[in-house]
Amino acid sequence: MNITLRIWRQQNPDDKGRMVSYGVEDISPDMSFLEMLDVLNEQLTLGGDDPVAFDSDCREGICGMCSLMINGLAHGPEALTATCQLHMRHFAAGDTIDIEPWRSDAFPVIRDLIVDRSALDRIVQAGGYISAPTGSAPDANATPVARRDADRAFDAAACISCGACVAACPNGSASLFLGAKITHLGSLPQGQPERDARAGAMTAQHDAEGFGGCTQIGECTAVCPAGIPLDMISQLNHDVLSGLTHRDHQ
Ligand code: SF4
Ligand code: FES
Repeated sequence: MNITLRIWRQQNPDDKGRMVSYGVEDISPDMSFLEMLDVLNEQLTLGGDDPVAFDSDCREGICGMCSLMINGLAHGPEALTATCQLHMRHFAAGDTIDIEPWRSDAFPVIRDLIVDRSALDRIVQAGGYISAPTGSAPDANATPVARRDADRAFDAAACISCGACVAACPNGSASLFLGAKITHLGSLPQGQPERDARAGAMTAQHDAEGFGGCTQIGECTAVCPAGIPLDMISQLNHDVLSGLTHRDHQ
């Protein structure tokens, strides 16, 4: 397939940035989207031009590094798929594909398609942990966990912290990410001691980072590669309220 790419190029955070068109030829439908970008970068490098900067690491859909807005959709046209798992068979010969970085005030562009997503790390640092006594590892069955709770925690832990939910949200909210982290720890017995404080601390950090509030639009869950459902935001709201209520009665 021969394809035209229109890619956001931005030298540094202060550069205004612009869309630039490139042609790539002989692209196999079996190539991944990132392999197609590798072909472009080889072409640019051989021609003496700067390659397009983009993030990737595992290329297996588990690390959350790949973060591209493809034709206006976070992670592109295939549901439940991170950019690295998207294949060129979803496009047709002669297509023009727009590729942009995540757009959010809380994710400043570093260069081209790479944004700074450390705001998500700081939200986790604010409360996304449990306290556990040091010493030897506890016996695996020492703390029984009901199957329903284990499944719920496991589903929430599938969040790969990619930030697609933020990029897709008209409010630039990270509430789906936050809901997944809150639900993950709040569903398990080990997460209960800090549960009241956790939701408030993480939500305060979320707001301080410049993410917007949730108005239940649902764009986030539509693009989430991990299938995190909207009701995890309800769990977040429940835990924030419950934390405030318990604090006011202390
Ligand atoms: S909730 Fe989904 S879209 Fe948001 S960071 Fe986690 S995996 Fe990515
Ligand atoms: S590169 Fe790791 S999820 Fe895409």
